[in-house]
Amino acid sequence: MSDFGESDSLDVPFQVPQLHRLRFTRDVFTTDQDVLADLLAPSGDRRPRVQFWLDDHLCRARPGLLGKIRCFCDEYADRVTRVGNVQRVPGGEAIKNDIHVLERMLKVFRASDLDRRSYVVVIGGGAVLDAVGFAAAIAHRGIRLVRLPTTTLAQSDSGVGVKNGVNLFGQKNWVGTFATPWGVINDARLLDSLGERDFVSGFSEAVKVALLKDPQLLDDLRRDAAAIRRRQWDKALPIIRRTALWHLRHITEGGDPFEQREARPLDFGHWSAHKLEVMSGFELRHGEAVAIGLAIDTVYSSLACGLDPAHARQVLACLEALGFSLACPESADTHTLFAGLEEFRQHLGGRLTLTMLKGIGDPIDVHQIDRPLMRQAIAEVRRQAESVGAGG
Ligand SMILES: NC(=O)c1ccc[n+]([C@@H]2O[C@H](COP(=O)([O-])OP(=O)(O)OC[C@H]3O[C@@H](n4cnc5c(N)ncnc54)[C@H](O)[C@@H]3O)[C@@H](O)[C@H]2O)c1
Ligand SMILES: [Zn+2]
Repeated sequence: MSDFGESDSLDVPFQVPQLHRLRFTRDVFTTDQDVLADLLAPSGDRRPRVQFWLDDHLCRARPGLLGKIRCFCDEYADRVTRVGNVQRVPGGEAIKNDIHVLERMLKVFRASDLDRRSYVVVIGGGAVLDAVGFAAAIAHRGIRLVRLPTTTLAQSDSGVGVKNGVNLFGQKNWVGTFATPWGVINDARLLDSLGERDFVSGFSEAVKVALLKDPQLLDDLRRDAAAIRRRQWDKALPIIRRTALWHLRHITEGGDPFEQREARPLDFGHWSAHKLEVMSGFELRHGEAVAIGLAIDTVYSSLACGLDPAHARQVLACLEALGFSLACPESADTHTLFAGLEEFRQHLGGRLTLTMLKGIGDPIDVHQIDRPLMRQAIAEVRRQAESVGAGG
């Protein structure tokens, strides 16, 4: 036993090993089924018990998926035990906005006798991953979670993230936990049923990591924006992979996976994005709001932090070439929007810390926002959006 001495005051650091398992597949329910089966490790001599949770919109867009999951369970019946029916939950932000869904999910876990060594396999967009992941994290203080993200955004960002949560008190992600998923499978095939908006939506997170960490990625995005928008997979999939790997690297090597420091560098553009999502009554998708938030903070960076204004213009043009609209009636209400600054600060505690840009790939933390300049930045983004709308 360690010698803790005679002291009445003990500050003992300790570390908990974490393992992030990320897999890339082409078609996880046909050619790549082993990848999923291999992730579901047995516990001692017990076959792993697995429950599948599906995004309802995904189910409707891919009517064959339920059957494929049942086939997977039948084919691997000697290796996994399916527990209960495949569960379907509301897709999109609706699942995060209704706290009662959480209780219903927990009841299903309980009725199925899931335990800490069982697996919840969740297949869906970022919202469903967040909500089912939260339920799995708090049931028995943590059931193993395997995520199969099915949107470009979730495969680029939230799938590999170590956060979950739902919205409460009119605020995004007010309740949630940090929890490393057991595994994540980014399957390319699952993306092909996405509608236009949700396909485009994820690439704002790619622009975000490019601005923060990877000028080459920004050049590639600018060059290939039209092809990505047309769903040219040989251009789109590598961008999603590089973005996911940046997020993974940040979590595993950045030294602060559970956000205990005051800065949240990967939340560039997100103070306004989160607020705009709420202000729009969730009409705006997360990725769409992030595109507007990035545009605002990029222009602000050019006004207040030394970013070359020509670079800022290129970033806005890149977002528009990818298919984002920077038009957003909500951003005119700067009074309400600025409340997002305090909400952002409070979510993390401590003093306000926002990431801005001195240059592309050259972020800087700021602790104060010059509101007149921020209003100017918002107005410039609105002008840019109007000029595009007017064919300018
Ligand atoms: N936990 C994190 O680290 C983290 C990071 C980023 C974003 N998020 C959260 O993720 C959410 C946004 O996720 P999103 O952008 O994936 O949107 P989403 O989950 O709202 O999905 C968008 C729409 O597409 C549908 N859908 C999903 N996959 C589909 C498919 N393959 N085919 C057809 N339809 C499909 C969904 O049902 C929904 O209607 C937000 O709530 C955001 O806060 C979390
Ligand atoms: Zn985001």
